[in-house]
Amino acid sequence: MRIDVLTLFPEMFESVFQASILGKAREKELVRLQAVNFRDYAENKHNTVDDYPYGGGGGMVLKPDPIFRAVEALEPPEDGARPRVLLLCPQGRRYDQRFAEELSGEKHLVLICGHYEGYDERIREHLVTDEVSIGDYVLTGGEIPAMAIIDSVVRLLPGVLGNEQSAVTDSFSTGLLEYPQYTRPAEFRGWAVPDVLISGHHANIEKWRRQQSLERTWKRRPDLLEGQELSKQDRELLDRLERERQASQQQQ
Ligand code: ADE
Repeated sequence: MRIDVLTLFPEMFESVFQASILGKAREKELVRLQAVNFRDYAENKHNTVDDYPYGGGGGMVLKPDPIFRAVEALEPPEDGARPRVLLLCPQGRRYDQRFAEELSGEKHLVLICGHYEGYDERIREHLVTDEVSIGDYVLTGGEIPAMAIIDSVVRLLPGVLGNEQSAVTDSFSTGLLEYPQYTRPAEFRGWAVPDVLISGHHANIEKWRRQQSLERTWKRRPDLLEGQELSKQDRELLDRLERERQASQQQQ
């Protein structure tokens, strides 16, 4: 996979692209990551990339020309496939694990990051394939959202995570939140690890983990339970939790 980020602050990506899992994925040539400064594609004397909005009003607007030219200057892929061009903005489609999985199937992603300014609408209409938001809050620029997207996509690429299992069982990939994990010591400051995990009884451990995942999801993110495939045992557990909740409400 190839990922190109268009930004006015390419230096923000240096350490992110070098460290940890992304750095290793790059070393293993599982992904090509590049940050491009689109100011280099401004064709005016002062290299300006933004201008005042037509019709007046506050703020500045990113000009279409440097961004179009920066995308067009990217090395074309061997198979001539068109890239998925993502524009980071709070108005975009809400990013989630399903979106990450969808993007991880692409060969080439281009991410466009604005900073403070708005974007000329023609960028949205004629260059971009997807507008993406990482959540209902406003950041000063698209760089941090771009990093979140790149990180979540690259970790899904085959061979990137050492233990393939960890991408499959983590929160959201299963549709449920992850169960609690423990490591040594078995007792820490008087707090013990649940007995079942030390029992060595694999079937019971699996059952406990499933129950914990379900209970945690029911408590924290009940919206995720809708549309889940649930076994009879799963339903019995959720019914019991619901009855207990109602009983404790009546007591109050
Ligand atoms: N730029 C500013 N805020 C953003 C957000 N929430 N998501 C994506 N890009 C943004």
